[in-house]
Amino acid sequence: MPTNVEEIKSRLDIVDVIQEYFPLKQAGVNFKANCPFHQEKTPSFMVSRERQMWHCFGCNEGGDMFEFIKKIENIDFPEALKILAAKAGVELRREDPKTTSMRTRIMNMNELAADWFAAELVSSTAGAKAKDYLQKTRGLADELIKYWQLGYALDSWDALGEHLRSRGFTKEEIIQSGLVVPKSGGYEYYDRFRDRIMFPIVDHHGNIVGFTGRTMKADEQAKYVNTPQTAVYNKSEVIFGLYQAKQFIKEQNSVVIVEGNMDVIGSAKGGVKNVVAVSGTALTVEQIRILQRYTNNIIFSFDTDTAGVRAAERAIAIAWAAEANVRVAVIPHGLAKDPDELVQKDPALWQKLVAAAPLAMDYFFALHLTDYQPDNIERKKIIAKNLLNLILKLESPIEQDFYLKKLSQELNINEASLRAVIHKTRNSVAPPKTTSALSSPRQDISLNKKSAVANRLLSFMLLDRDYAVYVSEHLVPESLPQDWLPVYKLLVIYYTKQASNESLPHNPVDFIIAADPSLTNAANSLIIKKEELRVLSYAEAVREIQQHLDYLKKSLAQSKQTSLKEELRQAERALALAASAEEQDALHSEIETILRRLNELSAELKDTDF
Ligand code: UTP
Ligand code: MN
Repeated sequence: MPTNVEEIKSRLDIVDVIQEYFPLKQAGVNFKANCPFHQEKTPSFMVSRERQMWHCFGCNEGGDMFEFIKKIENIDFPEALKILAAKAGVELRREDPKTTSMRTRIMNMNELAADWFAAELVSSTAGAKAKDYLQKTRGLADELIKYWQLGYALDSWDALGEHLRSRGFTKEEIIQSGLVVPKSGGYEYYDRFRDRIMFPIVDHHGNIVGFTGRTMKADEQAKYVNTPQTAVYNKSEVIFGLYQAKQFIKEQNSVVIVEGNMDVIGSAKGGVKNVVAVSGTALTVEQIRILQRYTNNIIFSFDTDTAGVRAAERAIAIAWAAEANVRVAVIPHGLAKDPDELVQKDPALWQKLVAAAPLAMDYFFALHLTDYQPDNIERKKIIAKNLLNLILKLESPIEQDFYLKKLSQELNINEASLRAVIHKTRNSVAPPKTTSALSSPRQDISLNKKSAVANRLLSFMLLDRDYAVYVSEHLVPESLPQDWLPVYKLLVIYYTKQASNESLPHNPVDFIIAADPSLTNAANSLIIKKEELRVLSYAEAVREIQQHLDYLKKSLAQSKQTSLKEELRQAERALALAASAEEQDALHSEIETILRRLNELSAELKDTDF
């Protein structure tokens, strides 16, 4: 009898499994794509249908479909087994103890809780007022309440906790689920959600990973209460509505991102179904990356208050940095405060606003130019500066050029002056470079050296928020040695969250260690290094940071060069042995590609000015 794994593998094709996450391009008998596990511009992620394996020649990761699912979903084997078994229609024969990991137990508890909340909404007397609220105040018909699995949490300190106990879950497990709040001492607890309308939060496989609960009282301090961080609920990755929307996102090849859960439900009701929300946090890079598995076209529609406008600006910057195409659907002032309210009034208008959403940069132009007065030179300067700052964030030089021209026309300032402003801005962050031992070109860059440079660079990020922002704007993450990459990512997350005023540990190092205890050593070494750097003046620091960045960039280019040269040697050897004309042609074109990339690289290496 075949094992579960064999059975699943015999029914699924790795190419299909991977294509659910991103498209693969045929390359001979194999398939390729840009690697999802590291930053790259040319594909080195290869998939072999014949061997049912994948491998990335850039980051040297690889394996079978199980390894892929584990890595891309960031989960353990038991869960990958469940996901793939479901895809393959294979019934897992016995509940292996390994398949009931804590994560699975938590999801089972969430499932139970969702059923319980839903039942209370329809059957309990207290639930009746919640149902009334949903139907009358929020305009949701019964079928929508069912579709979104909405429920009601009783006004009780222990109803759910007891329910879970009666179903055989231990106190420890119940605490781990986040459905209860532990009391001091840690062994007792009370229900987290009391007298609230409950919205299950579902991951993109349909598992319930957490809840958000809304009060019906106007004077309640917390309008929403959310599941805390648990083994299955990661605030910076959760996207409300994605499971329900993903099919529509693919069909429309775009996703509408709104602020609240109720906006998602309202928008879907109003006919715009490719809609999700990043509830309760500022949008994160992780969320954008997850959405980019489905589409690269993002339409933001945030609340019309000033907080919403600011949230939109931050979100757009993040989406731009991830090279998404960004549009903004703006709700006309005074009409409604958010998409949900707009749909209640005029669903057709909501559909129209989304369909006609302008490009984000056009939105910013309109926003900043609303109170433009041609004769007010001070205003002109401010508008120019604000818009130039945004234009600098665009990834494509063509787009930059386009908007510079537009700005020059709108403000009646010639382009050369605008470019001069850009130049000045750039130089003020990046003072003239000096020669340094660090930056002299070298053939073989030792990993130790690279690691030391990374260590110093990240210590600067710890030292001062401005340095951190500068580094994050200029560093190619791929150029960091593997052991520093996770530390770097967490630092970026920390400062991004800080910018959105989230409450965070005072020291970024505490944040890093809490997020990933295996980074404790690395994080601690930064703290030590940081002290050495305090003595530097601002200018000295910036100069040094620049040198480190250049060094890493260059060493990345060099290592790419080395591996390309090896590829070239191999292709040439193969050419000498090639039998058929077709084979020869294929190899010739391969060699041509390698040579072109080598040329590009040496141009890049020359370009890096020291
Ligand atoms: P909003 O205050 O805009 O709520 O917060 P909303 O979605 O319009 O809700 P309704 O229409 O009043 O019911 C937007 C999102 O921010 C999170 C929630 O996820 C909410 O959907 N939030 C808000 C919290 O997490 N906690 C809060 O106290 C408030
Ligand atoms: Mn609302």
